[in-house]
Amino acid sequence: MSPSPDTAASVPFATLVIVAVSCALSLTRAAPADLVDARVEALLSKMTLAEKLGQLQQLDGSADGNFKPEHPDLIRKGLMGSTLNVRGAARTNALQRIAMEQPRVAVPLLFAYDVIHGYRTIFPIPLGLAATWDPAVIERAATVSAKESRAAGIRWTFAPMVDIARDPRWGRIAEGAGEDPYLGAAMAAAWVRGFQGDSYAAPERLLACAKHWVAYGAAEGGRDYNTADVSERTLREVYFPPFKAAVDAGVATLMSAFNDLNGIPATANPFTLTDVLRGEWHFGGFVVSDYNAVRELMVHRAAASEAEAAREALTAGVDMEMVSRTFAGEVPKLIEQGRLSVADVDRAVTRVLGTKIMSGLFENPYAPEGAEATVLLSPDHRAAARESAGRSFVLLKNAGHVLPLATTGGPVAVIGPLADDQNALLGSWPGDGRAGDTVSLLAGLRAKLGSGRAVLFAKGCATIACSSTDGFDQAAAIARQTDTVVLAVGESADMSGEAASRSSLDLPGRQLDLVRRIQEAGKPTVVVLMNGRPLTIGWIAEQVPAILETWFAGTEGGSAIAAALVGDVNPGGKLPVTFVRTVGQVPFYYNHKHTGRPPNTTKYTSKYLDVESTPLFPFGFGLSYTSFRLSGLQLSAATIPSDGSIRVEADIENTGARPGDEVVQLYLRRAAASVTPRVETLTAFRRVTLTPGAKQRLSFQLGTAELGMLDRRLRFVVEPGDFQVMVGTSSVEGLTTEFKVTAR
Ligand code: GLC
Repeated sequence: MSPSPDTAASVPFATLVIVAVSCALSLTRAAPADLVDARVEALLSKMTLAEKLGQLQQLDGSADGNFKPEHPDLIRKGLMGSTLNVRGAARTNALQRIAMEQPRVAVPLLFAYDVIHGYRTIFPIPLGLAATWDPAVIERAATVSAKESRAAGIRWTFAPMVDIARDPRWGRIAEGAGEDPYLGAAMAAAWVRGFQGDSYAAPERLLACAKHWVAYGAAEGGRDYNTADVSERTLREVYFPPFKAAVDAGVATLMSAFNDLNGIPATANPFTLTDVLRGEWHFGGFVVSDYNAVRELMVHRAAASEAEAAREALTAGVDMEMVSRTFAGEVPKLIEQGRLSVADVDRAVTRVLGTKIMSGLFENPYAPEGAEATVLLSPDHRAAARESAGRSFVLLKNAGHVLPLATTGGPVAVIGPLADDQNALLGSWPGDGRAGDTVSLLAGLRAKLGSGRAVLFAKGCATIACSSTDGFDQAAAIARQTDTVVLAVGESADMSGEAASRSSLDLPGRQLDLVRRIQEAGKPTVVVLMNGRPLTIGWIAEQVPAILETWFAGTEGGSAIAAALVGDVNPGGKLPVTFVRTVGQVPFYYNHKHTGRPPNTTKYTSKYLDVESTPLFPFGFGLSYTSFRLSGLQLSAATIPSDGSIRVEADIENTGARPGDEVVQLYLRRAAASVTPRVETLTAFRRVTLTPGAKQRLSFQLGTAELGMLDRRLRFVVEPGDFQVMVGTSSVEGLTTEFKVTAR
């Protein structure tokens, strides 16, 4: 729960004492807002303007986790309230002792860090965790990450990143949950629950931060930091839902985005930062800007000076300034000039102090020194990372049942620039993860096969950029000596993530030539993909019998991939994002509109002349080592009133010889509406585990929330009409049936 410190109440001092004591006792539960307000009021009444602005200032530490030489003195003077990147219990406690003992008004520091998918134990990248279609996996990853972060003195993570991404050229697609608002919302809430628990004041929990508010993923051309121009309808239907889910899950903070949004930068946008976030959603936490984003309002040419940038950001609804110092430098003058008021400052400081009070920082400001040695990278954390990775893999192809590999028999060749790469597995936000702690695919498979099968290795390409074919001969020779080939190709960790947009989605460099060359050896071959975005792998999809999508699988990636290759783990993941045939199809997402001329074989329809109008692999797609069958689709009614609900039931059966997971997905379609509907919308999903021959009947409930839409005036309504339900194992395959919604 976040406080509602906006309604700061004034309370007699005697009451304050009682309040402060009872608040300290109730720390593991969310303190009632009025108690928080009273404590905030008491602090505000003592603070100078400079000290108040100090609470709105976050400054950066060093990449190695140390603080900067200027920090102790700024803290002593009450001029900074938070750091990012400073980590390690001893370091954070050293700064915290200054904050608690030396300033005129003691306010504890809030230590923040980008714990995106792990602190020291690194989990699969968020796009991979989304591919599990299992919110419980994300909740567990966040819980482990929070526990490790707290041992290292971190109290606030800049996660979850919940930006919807429909353009895989955008490198930050790696950090989110893909292209769909419903899946994205489910994962956003799971991240918040995992990081914050029932109360972010609890000892092993963190403040979470939903970012980047908003529509950062709509960057034109998929080029990071580029302009986003999005209708309010698309904002509300596509980009807002994961943030709303995070706010409804009680997320403590949000981060404003770098991008310009419809002509007004997201970091100075009153509509999104105040009208929607505060006015519609009643968000009670605080908003931190992205890194230097307030000062960059000048680079956007949205502000002619630092003073203008500070005024625009603060009045629009940014509360804390990350790294740039325009608030501290310019707000006092703006107040003197009457262009800002102390109330503008107090509003932001109230939100920050309220959140600090709610987090228990005042009563528990220090990290438990010595905990890192036992908590970080513990065996059960490694096990959690390994299991998460195993659930994130998507089996894209398995012709001729090349997979799973036998654990005894002739030698196996492990080839490719990613086969023994420990760093790539950590992804683009490796936290405090160490490549040396990471299990590579080669190491994982050698450990798994042991003496059962020899494993021969060749990189083929000296680096993942693969600019030369020098290593191809040796790799081909190795392939010819073996019975099976595992080819690990894809991207390096820094080819996705921030400032890592690509104009091509092909395998970098000559990697595809390596695959072609190895394929000539004529051995059963498995391509293991390691990547932060969908790739255009058409030739591989046609020519190579087996393809396993593993994303960047984290600290235990190699162990998990080896387990999946030999069948100890049966891949059950599904694509959270469309794989296009060529980058020229982008943007291409499953829940697109019909248009007046949907693509077909006739000329005058919406399509390209030089590529099929379908994706290479569709949203929601993924195979298994076993087989499943859907049957018995049934609705609880054929017609319902517009305020009614309908139950959808279907059976899922494991018709194969191995236990396995299937993700049953429910898509809603509608015949016509006052606003053009999407061809279909993911409305529910469930991942189930079934033993061979087992059958499970699943039930889904569709009510106003699922049947509703935004009408022409953006009002949420349920319009009467004809609907179709598709219950499937991907967005393109399943059972369908119809029902009607009638006017009440
Ligand atoms: C970066 C990112 C943001 C991150 C912040 C602090 O520029 O945009 O996601 O949390 O700065 O590292």
